[in-house]
Amino acid sequence: MKIGSVDLKSPFAIAPMAGMTDTAFRRLVKRHGGCGLVVTEMVSAEGLIRGIDRTLEYAEYTQEERPISIQIFGGDPDKMAAAAQIVEGMGADIVDVNMGCPVPKIAKHNAGCSLMREPGHAASVIAAMAKAVKIPVTVKMRAGWNDDERNAPTLAKMVQDAGAAAIAVHGRTAAQSYSGSADWDLVARIAADLTIPVFGSGDCLEPQQIIDRMRSGVEGVLVGRGVLRNPWILSQAMDLAAGRPPRVVTLEDRGIFLLDYIDLLMTERVDEARETTHDRWVVNKLRALGSWYTKGLENGSHLRTGINSAPTLGALRQLITEFFGVGLSSAAR
Ligand SMILES: Cc1cc2nc3c(=O)[nH]c(=O)nc-3n(C[C@H](O)[C@H](O)[C@H](O)COP(=O)(O)O)c2cc1C
Repeated sequence: MKIGSVDLKSPFAIAPMAGMTDTAFRRLVKRHGGCGLVVTEMVSAEGLIRGIDRTLEYAEYTQEERPISIQIFGGDPDKMAAAAQIVEGMGADIVDVNMGCPVPKIAKHNAGCSLMREPGHAASVIAAMAKAVKIPVTVKMRAGWNDDERNAPTLAKMVQDAGAAAIAVHGRTAAQSYSGSADWDLVARIAADLTIPVFGSGDCLEPQQIIDRMRSGVEGVLVGRGVLRNPWILSQAMDLAAGRPPRVVTLEDRGIFLLDYIDLLMTERVDEARETTHDRWVVNKLRALGSWYTKGLENGSHLRTGINSAPTLGALRQLITEFFGVGLSSAAR
């Protein structure tokens, strides 16, 4: 499939997740296969324009992640157009606009999901961006602001007309946050209505669910929490799509993933203004991932507690090595 002139080798993608989908995590998921597109964590348009170090850090990516989409948030058409030009200058393949974030800190600045409350204005943001850059401009939205304002079908058409090259819809309202379930009937209606590619997002925790959701008529599926629990889910979905049994992930594979994640994070450039050491930053990153990654694992809550209390990076590495039996299977061979 294509987004504008950008070719995707798989219709399955990692959904943008603030605090989680950093470049190290994206690279590892990509290396395991099945991932057609990665999207950065959302970055502030204002921060990009002002050259804020932390914002630039969130927007960093490596060549192996291509095609890469950088997601920006903001509400002012001129500033969003200027930020899109910066994203284009950074070499990104796609610039994505966040119209789904329900967090008040973002939404109160007329950005994130609050853009959905002013469809005319939201469309003018996309028009300004599409005019300013050559790379595809895409939009990620929710079903609407709340149950009385489920306007994603109308807004989707408006942003398509304004020049968006693709859209993604998470079938929940901002008011729902993550409660209830994603409305895939709504996503299917939008996919049927639009001529540009539509991605659906929401509640795919098993590879088979991704395959089932593709039947709703979407061109692709963005998987969020399912990837945090199981970074192999996209590759397993590709196996299913090809009629193969999904690859088996061993406990050791899961341990190696976390150790590789630590190693990649240790090579990362981090904002010097952080009030923490590099080691501490990595420990905190592992805690954030651990809260998702340990869900559904046997003794997962035990591991989670261990990760949250490991005092040093060395202790964390040892805990992971022992819990997952890393090195045991090769020693036995
Ligand atoms: C921790 C977390 C952070 C998220 N951050 C973003 C974000 O920065 N931008 C965005 O568009 N969506 C964000 N989302 C929403 C996801 O991209 C996705 O649409 C949503 O989680 C539903 O998909 P899922 O059920 O597969 O997780 C976030 C979700 C989670 C769980």
